[in-house]
Amino acid sequence: MHLETGGSPPGNYFSGETAGRQPAQNAVIPTPEVRLSGLLSQLETDWRIHGDAFEIVMQGLRCVVAIHPADMRTVLTDPNYKDKGPLYRGVRLILGDGILTTSGAEWKTSRRAITPAFHPGQMNAMADTMAAIGENFVQDLRERPDLGRVDLRAEMTALTLDTIMATLFGNRIDPKQDGLLYETVTDAFNLAGSLGGNQAPSEEAQQKYTAVTGSLNAVAQRMIDSARKDEPDGSVLSMLIHSKDETGSYLDDQTIRNELLTLMFAGHETTALTLTWLFKMLENRPDITRRIQQEVQTVLAGQPPGFQDFPKLAYTRQVIDEVLRLRPVVSLIARTAEEKAKIHNFTIEPGDTVVPFIWATHRHPDFWDEPEVFNPDRFSAVNSAGRDRWSYLPFAAGSRICIGKGLALTELTIHTALLMHHFDVKVLPNNVAPEMHITLRPNGPVYAALSPRQTYRNNP
Ligand code: HEM
Repeated sequence: MHLETGGSPPGNYFSGETAGRQPAQNAVIPTPEVRLSGLLSQLETDWRIHGDAFEIVMQGLRCVVAIHPADMRTVLTDPNYKDKGPLYRGVRLILGDGILTTSGAEWKTSRRAITPAFHPGQMNAMADTMAAIGENFVQDLRERPDLGRVDLRAEMTALTLDTIMATLFGNRIDPKQDGLLYETVTDAFNLAGSLGGNQAPSEEAQQKYTAVTGSLNAVAQRMIDSARKDEPDGSVLSMLIHSKDETGSYLDDQTIRNELLTLMFAGHETTALTLTWLFKMLENRPDITRRIQQEVQTVLAGQPPGFQDFPKLAYTRQVIDEVLRLRPVVSLIARTAEEKAKIHNFTIEPGDTVVPFIWATHRHPDFWDEPEVFNPDRFSAVNSAGRDRWSYLPFAAGSRICIGKGLALTELTIHTALLMHHFDVKVLPNNVAPEMHITLRPNGPVYAALSPRQTYRNNP
């Protein structure tokens, strides 16, 4: 079957302006339309002024922003908020209707088809694959002549794209050789934010959209065709090809394409950005860097990493948890209400959109001591006891919790351990700040000088 592009009309994703209609006790702040990249500072300011819930207008929609853990719990567990709604239009345009964007029966079919690929039992083999990919990556990197100035985000994206291709799709294509350069994927996400809306997209944006979706579709089709020829192999692609929907029919190529691209997108930019933020946050923290390196040295004890090492890298994992608190790469999500309800002191009408603002929940002073301080010790077992689970939501929660949470945490731990074991990473001075796109990206390149260290390989 011929693949078409995603299934929804173009729309600006998360462009915001403050609402005209505010609760009586709050002042109206007239703010011009802000694009997604300016949204983070606007929402932070609104939070400081208005408190744990406030109204804004995004994409012409009245939205209530929710921050308090009790409200996060309501929005993420109450079936009234099961629909993702119109703010996901831009993403749907690129990825089509798949597990990330649909709801109801359609979503259930997707989730049921994909879940077995993420079963904890699969993680053992996946971790070994990740470690092998990571090991190749660091060995190649050690040989590079340009280690004095490496673009961390580009390198981490290449690493995580290779990882997802190997762990989920059985290496059916080589991203470097098959036209799926990471720029294509990044371009596609950028386009999700710039196409459509109330204004007609520019000719340039339309041409780019056609080119980007064309190459994504071609790559997806090649992978599907290749997997169809083979026996079931336990990869997610193979599971999709052999699974049936609620009517008992096999999924068609368009549906498989949507799920495939969704997993590819959701599954590598998030981890690449988290690794980039991790090195940026360690920039002035030699104390934490040393502790990670000591732990890795002790745990690996002269051996390459494997699945059995994952639980032993407890401090490394705490650092990752803290990076995900201060730089939650999915900082903001959305749900649409089906029926009239209440969030905080706001009445929610049917069709209204509620926006859980994870970034702010992770900094809520009633739930976090010194919220802006980077302190991985807050995630030790002792310090985590009794924490409100709805105050920490980097992977969301409830039925729509990130399906890749286990995979992501395993991957982040293995790659962090390997990179820190092999290199001293010195981030080069550059004032980069987080900027909200669909994911939370640095607003400029993060360069680092890498110095190879003595390792189990060259110092047995
Ligand atoms: C640091 C890494 C990651 C973070 C912070 C993250 C975060 C999230 C969040 C917050 C959601 C909820 C989105 C919403 O409600 O709109 C989500 C959903 C999702 N994530 Fe992740 N994710 C990460 C890695 C991954 C990986 C590695 C994969 C796949 C291999 C993945 C696949 C998905 C999918 C398919 C969904 C939609 C699930 C559903 O609606 O049933 N994610 N993720």
